[in-house]
Amino acid sequence: MKLKDVKIIDLPKNLDRRGNLSVIEELKNIPFKIKRAYWIYDVPGGEVRGGHAYKRNQEFIVALSGSFDVILDNGKEQQTFSLNRSYYGLYVPEGIWRQMQNFSTNSLALILASIRFDVADYVYDYELFKQMANEKNEHL
Ligand code: TYD
Repeated sequence: MKLKDVKIIDLPKNLDRRGNLSVIEELKNIPFKIKRAYWIYDVPGGEVRGGHAYKRNQEFIVALSGSFDVILDNGKEQQTFSLNRSYYGLYVPEGIWRQMQNFSTNSLALILASIRFDVADYVYDYELFKQMANEKNEHL
């Protein structure tokens, strides 16, 4: 998978003096059907989340509150995305190593996922990930 397949997606914004509203619809604002939503919160200062890749799972990550960085790696190059607004998010295709860090106090990360939780979909070994990523790229 190439890092060019990663993208920031702007979400619709309904600006209103009563407060703003944004929305995500599957296959409309994001390119997959949503099978699961989870969120990360109460992250102590300096903690790092992630540190793995998924074989099949695609994700869309939104900073609903506060800010954090998402570091993506395709086995060859790395790119860092700083998320700090609730009206856009980061689309991460399958086959990308990812880490989340620099969580601000009270930050809230919403993650929409394309498959149900499946521990067999995780790749935790970075060397194995690089091997898998390079094999895949050879066939592209
Ligand atoms: P993990 O994916 O390792 O978190 P992160 O990548 O953010 O560091 O998940 C942490 C724990 O939560 C792990 O024990 C598995 C569990 N978990 C679920 O039960 N369901 C889920 O959908 C997710 C994402 C995690």
